[in-house]
Order: sequence, then C-alpha cells, then structure tokens
Amino acid sequence: MLKTPLCEVLGIDFPIIQGGMAYLGSAELVSAVSEAGGLGIIGSGSSQPSWIQDQITLVRALTNKPFGLNIMLMSPYVEDVVQLAIEEKVPIITTGGGNPGIYLARLKESGAKILPVVSIKALAKRLDRQGVDAIIAEGMESGGHVGETTTMALVPQIVDAVSVPVIAAGGMADGRGLAAALTLGAQAVQMGTRFICAEECIAHTNFKQKILAVGDHDTVVTGESLGHPARCLKNKLTRQFQSMEQSGVPAEELDRFGIGKLYAGIIDGDIEQGSLMAGQIAGLVSDIKPARSIIHDIVLEAEAVFARINSAMGTNGENPSV
Ligand SMILES: Cc1cc2nc3c(=O)[nH]c(=O)nc-3n(C[C@H](O)[C@H](O)[C@H](O)COP(=O)(O)O)c2cc1C
Repeated sequence: MLKTPLCEVLGIDFPIIQGGMAYLGSAELVSAVSEAGGLGIIGSGSSQPSWIQDQITLVRALTNKPFGLNIMLMSPYVEDVVQLAIEEKVPIITTGGGNPGIYLARLKESGAKILPVVSIKALAKRLDRQGVDAIIAEGMESGGHVGETTTMALVPQIVDAVSVPVIAAGGMADGRGLAAALTLGAQAVQMGTRFICAEECIAHTNFKQKILAVGDHDTVVTGESLGHPARCLKNKLTRQFQSMEQSGVPAEELDRFGIGKLYAGIIDGDIEQGSLMAGQIAGLVSDIKPARSIIHDIVLEAEAVFARINSAMGTNGENPSV
C-alpha cells in the first residue's frame, strides 16, 4: 500500500531512505537497509576516496539491491569522489552541503539517478530545471548540517514548486513520521538519526546509548558563524564551541578546533569532547534493533496510521496521499 511511484524509479520496496551519514554510512548499514527493501546510502563525508571505494565494493558483495552514495560537497576530496562515483557507475547519488550544479552534467551522463539534499526552495527549483531525478527537502530538525526552515513548512512548499518527486528529511523516526511526510506530498522519507541506532550501524555504543537517553530538548545548532551550521547533541564540546563563537574567535581557529571532533564522538565514543551529530527526533528513538526491523516497523505503523485515519473519516481504506 505504501509503495509510491518514486519506489519504482529507485527500485526499492518501501519509501524509506537511510540518509548518507559521514563515517556511519558504511557497507554494513547500507547493505542491511537495501536488503530490507529501503535505500541504503554510503556516507562519503570527508573520508578518503580509498575508504569510499572499499564501501562500494563491499556493498556490492553484500547485496544485489540498489544503493546510493552521498557526495558531501564540502569534502576536500569532492572531485575525486565525483570521479569515483562515475567510474563505479553508482546507481543513485545524493549530495549534501551545498549546490551540486557544477557536477550534474557529468553525473547524469554516468546514468546515475541524482537526488540533491536542499533546504531552500530556490535551490530546489534551480536543480529541478537542471534535470535532477528527485529533491530531498531537509528541514532544520535534522542531524548534521541544517538550513533554517522546518520540515513541516519546507516539504509542501517544495512539493508545489518542483516537477520531480520530493523526499522529506529531518525529524522523522517512525511510521507516524512517514505517514506525515506522505501526507505533505512527499513520496519517501530520508532518516538519519533513527538509523544510528540500527544494530548494523558502526556508531560507537556510547553514542547509540546517548541517543537512547536524550529527550526532546537535547540538541543544539552550532557553527552558524562559520556559514555551515550543524545540529548535534548538547555536550561539553557544543558548550565550548558556542562560547568560542560568542566571544568572536576567528573562523580559521574555529575550523581548526573542529578537526577530528566528529570521528572522536561518533566512532571513538568520546561523548563529551566529540561532536555527536543527531537530529531533534533523537528523543523519540528508544531501541537498538536490526535495520530490517526498523524498516518493517515503520511501514506497519504508517499503514496503521492511514487505516486509522481512513476509518475515522469513513473512507474506503485507500491511502489518499499516494
Ligand atoms: C551523524 C550524521 C552525519 C550526517 N552526515 C551527512 C553527510 O555527510 N551528508 C549529508 O548529505 N547528510 C548528512 N547527514 C544528514 C542525513 O543524511 C539525513 O538527511 C538526516 O539525518 C535526516 O534527519 P534526521 O536526523 O532527523 O533523521 C548526517 C546526519 C547525521 C545524524
């Protein structure tokens, strides 16, 4: 029932995409999500191209299902990663951290489906005109780099503005979130924070446990003064970073201070001095389970939501949004 036209385009069973996450979008998680009928996406972040190449090879060894690669446009290796994606003929490319315009022609020529992450309508419209296959509209609730508009406000505005399917990202972790996204006109959701607590995710157990422990008020956005704000769980690091930003520490010094902090937090498990990128929906995540169960439970819950609404409204049981 929940299969949308975009599922056919991407070759997936369920409209659930695991967002490409720096360091965490490794072959283990990606292949598990794709095997379960969702779309797993390798997170290239600022990783070395050799690591990304290894993940592509491993994913292909673990599943025959479609998978994607997220190209982080702020990576120092972005040119090499684009070239790698083309040579490897990665079937689905998402981009994060800016405007992928200059790479679109080459990526499209490789035959890849291109799904840029955007946080403003103007960029969505421009990329639509340039021929992308779908737009991932990401609200400021999300973990990682964020814009200024909420998912609730952004998604319907982008749905109305573009001709291609829209994927909603930011602030969803269960079937209610999926149902809400479909109701806003999206054809799929992209979730990041929920998949950190997948068994197959290589995030450090300290980070996973911290997500289980936090509530609705435990994230903060830092880095606004640098022009690339990011949402993380509050800890000693975010407090120190905020006070450095407020006292006018120069951007280069802040950038230097940030080097290595994400890896320290999410992979090494330093939950006080490391950066713990996660979204506001972390407060809803209450268990660690296999990716297959995460996807299965989300689909069942979304179907139950639509059934409940339809029965309350006396309609015929069809999902009105799909
Ligand atoms: C730890 C972490 C790392 C992320 N890294 C990236 C990244 O490298 N590129 C990107 O486009 N998005 C990145 N994201 C965003 C996710 O792909 C996804 O869009 C977002 O998490 C969705 O919002 P949610 O966290 O509320 O589910 C990251 C998110 C998290 C939590």
